[in-house]
Amino acid sequence: MQNFEFYSPTCFVFGKDTENSTGAYVKRFGGTKVLIHYGGGSVVRSGLLDRVKSSLDAESIPYVELGGVKPNPRSGLVYEGIELCKKENVDFVLAVGGGSSIDSAKAIAAGTVYDGDFWDFYRGKRIEKALNIGTVLTIAAAGSEGSPDSVITKEEGMFKRGASGDAIRPKFSILNPALTQTLPPFQSAAGITDIMAHLYERYLTNTKDVEVTDRLIEALLLTMVHEGPKVIADPDNYEARANIMWAGTLAHNNMCGVGRSQDWNSHTIEHELSALYDCAHGAGLAVTMPAVFTYVMNHNVMRFAQVATRVWGCQMDFEHPEVTALAGIGALRRYLKSIGMPGNFEELGAKEEDIPKLVEVLCRGDGRDGTISGFVTLNEDDCTKIYKMMV
Ligand code: NZQ
Ligand code: ZN
Repeated sequence: MQNFEFYSPTCFVFGKDTENSTGAYVKRFGGTKVLIHYGGGSVVRSGLLDRVKSSLDAESIPYVELGGVKPNPRSGLVYEGIELCKKENVDFVLAVGGGSSIDSAKAIAAGTVYDGDFWDFYRGKRIEKALNIGTVLTIAAAGSEGSPDSVITKEEGMFKRGASGDAIRPKFSILNPALTQTLPPFQSAAGITDIMAHLYERYLTNTKDVEVTDRLIEALLLTMVHEGPKVIADPDNYEARANIMWAGTLAHNNMCGVGRSQDWNSHTIEHELSALYDCAHGAGLAVTMPAVFTYVMNHNVMRFAQVATRVWGCQMDFEHPEVTALAGIGALRRYLKSIGMPGNFEELGAKEEDIPKLVEVLCRGDGRDGTISGFVTLNEDDCTKIYKMMV
């Protein structure tokens, strides 16, 4: 196991009706003027936004609001949010919604206290300082409620890039599983897929002897395998929603990723799909993961065979571990199909003729050097082959 520091200071407030305490938590973490940031309207329709505002009113905390965050959030609204926060002397950014609203809120929180262009952070500069952030989560998926990361798309060039820094870890995150019961099945499934991807990206490691984190990841993957289909069959299943929601947070606050190298090539390759086609990130991952895994499998076939036996219940073939590894990838593929995820480019709405463009932006865009690195370092030729496997 490698040396590590694990810093995960977010206060998680979990359970029914917890959103009614939002104002109290903003106060506890020192907020005196709030920007409420949200998406395309689901929180308005569900009445959640009104409940959150009432809780701020109850604590006499003033606020301004900025809605309209799109899935795969864009830089334009971030610039708008930064201006608003500066003009209104906001000192606390509250995201109400999913990963997109949270990521946009994080970008605004970092950009408001930075003299340069906030995009610098998405070109590799670490975020050292930001306004305090809180979240009220409405979808179990991205894990942004507990992560130090934010992913934004720059409209100019459609670069979808991530930024990181402990300064953007939320001070608190309110997790009420009941809020996820209004999700359309497709969004629930996309969220489940993203959570599983966050687990796989950590499972695919080049670090040896990481039994404890391997076992944690396997436990969370098994939870997703068992609980996922329950919420697709019955969206009002609170207990299954609760298990998935907490699994989603644990999958991505890096509890399972410490002390080991991680992959993230499936995410990097997917981000070009959601940037170009504006598809749901989880849906893109459903198509990407099996292709990437099949392509890189021989780099460490036993790792794939291990997850196949421990999570998917495949029989170990010691003479031909690649057969076991492939069986595990096949089981993942079937599972994703069973919850309603796309399995190829066509089902996702992607086009084969765009592959050169996808590879160019992936490997060369915005300062990249022709390769992407992770479990395996992949060049343009590798990435072209991987996208072709998805067709
Ligand atoms: O915009 P509204 O109207 O709120 O609708 C949203 C949106 O259309 C809807 N939705 C959310 N909660 C709902 C609901 N509809 C009904 N009832 C509810 N309770 O669902 C749609 C998707 O929302 P979004 O916020 O985009 O989902 P998600 O949480 O999957 O976030 C995706 C973004 O997170 C990034 C992805 O790349 C993508 O841009 N990621 C962020 C990470 C991070 N910051 O750590 C890591 C991830 O790997 C990921 O890359
Ligand atoms: Zn993800």
